[in-house]
Amino acid sequence: MKSENQTTLGILGTGHLATYTVTGLRHSGDQRRIILSPRNAERAKYLADNKNCEVAENNQTVIDQSDLILLAVRPWQLTALLEGLVFPKDKIVVSAVAGLTIEQVRNKADLPEKLALILPGVAAENALGFVPIYPEIPEVKALADSLGKTIAFKQESQFEEASAMACLNGWMYRFFDEQFNWLTNNGVDAEDARNMVLHNTIGAANYALGRPQEGLDELAAEIAKDGTYTKLGLDKLEAGGAFQQWSDALDMIKAKLDASDE
Ligand SMILES: NC(=O)c1ccc[n+]([C@@H]2O[C@H](COP(=O)([O-])OP(=O)(O)OC[C@H]3O[C@@H](n4cnc5c(N)ncnc54)[C@H](OP(=O)(O)O)[C@@H]3O)[C@@H](O)[C@H]2O)c1
Repeated sequence: MKSENQTTLGILGTGHLATYTVTGLRHSGDQRRIILSPRNAERAKYLADNKNCEVAENNQTVIDQSDLILLAVRPWQLTALLEGLVFPKDKIVVSAVAGLTIEQVRNKADLPEKLALILPGVAAENALGFVPIYPEIPEVKALADSLGKTIAFKQESQFEEASAMACLNGWMYRFFDEQFNWLTNNGVDAEDARNMVLHNTIGAANYALGRPQEGLDELAAEIAKDGTYTKLGLDKLEAGGAFQQWSDALDMIKAKLDASDE
């Protein structure tokens, strides 16, 4: 019997997500067999030549030769993708199609019993970041474990919060750019500025990861003591509603996701 991370992975939709997912698996030393759908030939060839993947003749071959099939097309492409494809009952299907529930995916085709959701973000390329899954199927968890920190939700609805957090991942680059511009406008070299912003962020995250027993608010309070410059700045940000705005934006995304379920 194959162990969970020896299952052959088939990917339907050889695009951006497929590329960073395959790259992340190889980065983690996950050497499983990977079979790609042929559309987007240039990208498929790149992954075949550089990341030890195979390119199937057609989408049905991807399914037939794989144990675990990742759906990685855009939401509006899924119906056309699944049309005419046959999924034997012993396969496992995992959908990375953002915003679609298990029921919505299942309604589109005669899919096997084992059907899960996953949402790796771009950080999966370096096997960092968080990777939500639901439900916790061992083969799906093994895939997620090779792509970053698996978060196996107890409820499917928590994918909405995960999707909103995935958007926040993108917003962070804008926040990083704000800091970068402030530094360079004040005369710091671009390379130094970029390194300061990014290593400051990694450093802060790693410090907190090393102290799981301390609340994130406690870590902030530990540094932002009365009379410090950190506290001065924190108070200004709080007074301007800077942090509340991030929660408000997350609420807005969640409301949109809720509405798209109706
Ligand atoms: N990229 C991200 O950061 C990210 C993060 C989380 C979740 N996701 C989700 O992941 C999914 C894929 O996103 P993506 O960014 O990878 O999109 P993408 O770059 O557009 O990739 C989708 C790929 O699927 C191909 N495709 C479409 N219909 C097909 C079919 N019938 N048979 C075979 N291939 C087909 C597309 O080819 P054409 O270009 O020819 O149409 C394209 O190469 C989306 O549902 C998205 O919500 C993406």
